[in-house]
Amino acid sequence: MMQLTKEQLQNYEDNGFVLLPECFSKAEVHRMNIELPIIFSEDTPKRVLEEEGKTVRAVHGVHKTDEIFQRLSRHPQLVKPAMQLIGSKVYIYQFKINAKAAFRGDIWEWHQDYIFWRKEDGLPTARLVNALVLLDDMNEFNGPLFVIPGSHKEGMIDVMARNTTNQSQAKTERPAWMSNFTAKLKYSLNKELVADLVLKYGIFCIKASAGSVLLFDSNIVHASPSNISPFDRAVVIITYNSIENIPLPVPNPRPDFLVSRDYRPVEPLSEDALLIESLA
Ligand code: SIN
Ligand code: MN
Repeated sequence: MMQLTKEQLQNYEDNGFVLLPECFSKAEVHRMNIELPIIFSEDTPKRVLEEEGKTVRAVHGVHKTDEIFQRLSRHPQLVKPAMQLIGSKVYIYQFKINAKAAFRGDIWEWHQDYIFWRKEDGLPTARLVNALVLLDDMNEFNGPLFVIPGSHKEGMIDVMARNTTNQSQAKTERPAWMSNFTAKLKYSLNKELVADLVLKYGIFCIKASAGSVLLFDSNIVHASPSNISPFDRAVVIITYNSIENIPLPVPNPRPDFLVSRDYRPVEPLSEDALLIESLA
């Protein structure tokens, strides 16, 4: 299923997302999951913790340091549909693993992705696509992703930024970009707006088994509740951007591990890239 069918393309256009069940085998998912403990244990600015300061919430830029996730980022199963949807060659704009740990994983507020990239990174257009790879089953219990189907058609909803320079934050000396990844997001949508959008478009919960892939538009409104279940819910989110949509200069550029400046187009690897011993 390396190329999307006409129907899948239509789905993506209409709803702002398309789910590709079980793209990766159990063996491939296992190969990725065994990398996680070491990735999560590394104390680095790329790692974001939950509010309690212990549990890993997210790790960024892993494709630069981990060979298996580097291969995933160049896997034809992701890169080919991304090129198809974007209509050009693509490069990797952002790579993150969201851990959503059992009992501890906190919420992601209602938001669109593109507004962060436009306001923080000077990204000219929303000509990018998110590929979310499930490393665990995602079900009704473990903080699944909620989407508002069709809400991408609203375009970027220009909400006001949350004031992130309050005293408590200054005291803990968190970098400014941290508010793009905590449970209190910088550009979240207010309740009234979300209620109106859900009334207009409905709401949908993504449920799928590990190895499935969700492709979604950077303007679709989405969120996820906390994980109070005993089941982990790790996902990888790789954002592919058109090579024709390079960010413009901004006053305070975010670090490379949040917004990659490696604009080289991704050349897809072979289908068995995650299973073979070495790429050489
Ligand atoms: C995101 O919006 O990037 C994360 C959502 C999630 O992991 O549930
Ligand atoms: Mn998001």
